[in-house]
Amino acid sequence: MSRVAVFPGSFDPMTMAHLDVARRAAALFDQLVVGVLHNPKKSPAFDIGQRVELIRASVADFGANVRVEAFDGLTVTFAARNGASFIVRGLRAVSDFEYEFQMALMNRKLEGSVETLFLMPKEEYTYLSSRIVKEIARLGGDVSKFVPAPVAKALGTKFKK
Ligand code: PNS
Repeated sequence: MSRVAVFPGSFDPMTMAHLDVARRAAALFDQLVVGVLHNPKKSPAFDIGQRVELIRASVADFGANVRVEAFDGLTVTFAARNGASFIVRGLRAVSDFEYEFQMALMNRKLEGSVETLFLMPKEEYTYLSSRIVKEIARLGGDVSKFVPAPVAKALGTKFKK
């Protein structure tokens, strides 16, 4: 039986913590589908097409078992559409736990056959978030250690003074 997982998120933009979780998940599952949430109510720094392309460029060397797709609607519906029995999420610190716990249990209520699994990124990435990375880039700081190279380039272009 082929084991398929989805890794959903906003990825606005992808950070090294996300990339690290994706790498670990790609090694654990036969197929990994990174799902980029298209939420028209939010105004992201990068539009949905850019976010998908930046992740594709960032995971290009991961192998053929990783795909990147935009989705809207429920994560459990996205999982079902992709034949996935697992949702992967990253846990950086205890502060992530409450939100993740609520989401995992709600997803279980919505679709009992899908398990949520948490993976911890490298501890050196525990302080990273898309929000902080965008703030640093906006204020002219160097984010090249915190995001994959294609994202660093895109942030540089976006926030060029
Ligand atoms: O990167 P984020 O913003 O923490 O990711 C949150 C995400 C996309 C995983 C979550 O908002 C989500 O699953 N949204 C889709 C709508 C949905 O399924 N909502 C019910 C989850 S409890």
